[in-house]
Amino acid sequence: MREQLHNLKNEALALIQEAKDKKELETLRIAFLGRKGKVNQLLKRLVQLEEEEKVQFGQLINEVKRAIQQTIKSKSSTIHAKGRAGTHHPSSIKDFFDPTLPGAKPSQGHLHLVTQAIEEIHRIFEKIGFVRVRYPEVDWDWYVFESLNMPKGHPARDEWETIFINQKPHPKMGKVVLTTHTSNGQVREMERVGQPPIKMINIAKCYHRQQDITHTIMFHQFEGLLIDKEISIPHLKGVFDHFAQEFYGPERKTRLRPFNFCFTEPSFEVDINCPLCLGKGCRTCKGGWHELGGAGMVHPNVLKAGGINPKEYTGFAFGWGVERTYMMKSSLKIEDLRLFYSNDLRFLKQF
Ligand code: FA5
Repeated sequence: MREQLHNLKNEALALIQEAKDKKELETLRIAFLGRKGKVNQLLKRLVQLEEEEKVQFGQLINEVKRAIQQTIKSKSSTIHAKGRAGTHHPSSIKDFFDPTLPGAKPSQGHLHLVTQAIEEIHRIFEKIGFVRVRYPEVDWDWYVFESLNMPKGHPARDEWETIFINQKPHPKMGKVVLTTHTSNGQVREMERVGQPPIKMINIAKCYHRQQDITHTIMFHQFEGLLIDKEISIPHLKGVFDHFAQEFYGPERKTRLRPFNFCFTEPSFEVDINCPLCLGKGCRTCKGGWHELGGAGMVHPNVLKAGGINPKEYTGFAFGWGVERTYMMKSSLKIEDLRLFYSNDLRFLKQF
């Protein structure tokens, strides 16, 4: 009887697994577990057994019954799930291609925020007559330092934590460097135009050997240069105020702080009032102002290096960081300049 039970269980489970639909499964259920089914037939035979065997085989029959019930249950859910899938996607419908449905749109990118800032800065200066130019971002020492009144060995060069290219120096132009500032365009522009008036805006990449919350190794500057007869500091301040109002809005102001650059005299640092407290002083700015860049009246030696007579012409120049300038917009709260180049889409998608 033990063997019979074993065979019955195997037969039942095999047939249930092969059942194709609910109807077939129900027939099997009746055949094995029904009132006149095979399991009950065996149960009826228990009466013929000794008391001890009755208990033993009674338990075994119940185990077989449970195994058959469970297998029917799980097979029933499989058939049900297949039926649902089949109802929703019969192969003829699944494979049907509807050419009238709109296509899946690929996700669309946009210009990087630095490119957006460059375009905006360019538009503002273009409207007041500045011509956009591009000069090399890998340039001779002559244009980056020496023609800007910083002879070899001058201590001021140390401030521009320079990255040099490993190349034989030129006898007059000197070593090759990754441009530390866009001021390399000043003498190049004087050479290009020759006779003032000169009104240039040079926007390019610059490189310094430092990186922290307000500095990156590669960043952008925009350099303005205006040379003509009788140009003075009020012209410089007027241009800055115009830019600040256009770029930031009417409530924002710039201020000049005395500073020292070898290539301008007098020289200034240009600050913008804080976007958060508008100059009153807060936790972010401390004194109410943020530095945008440097500026000043072009040094006579630089005009001479560019072939322009300093007795006849004067001019002003300025060089500001694009990223820093952009960060100062009132609507933004960018706390770390390195985010611009972190390639983090969560940051970039906001602009
Ligand atoms: C200069 O580069 C001067 N050439 C500016 C100048 C031009 C002065 C013309 C006079 C006449 P400075 O090193 O301070 O100056 O840089 C100017 C601005 O560039 C800084 O105020 C800042 O906004 C930006 N800047 C400088 N270094 C970095 C950096 N590592 N990362 C991001 N922005 C920077």
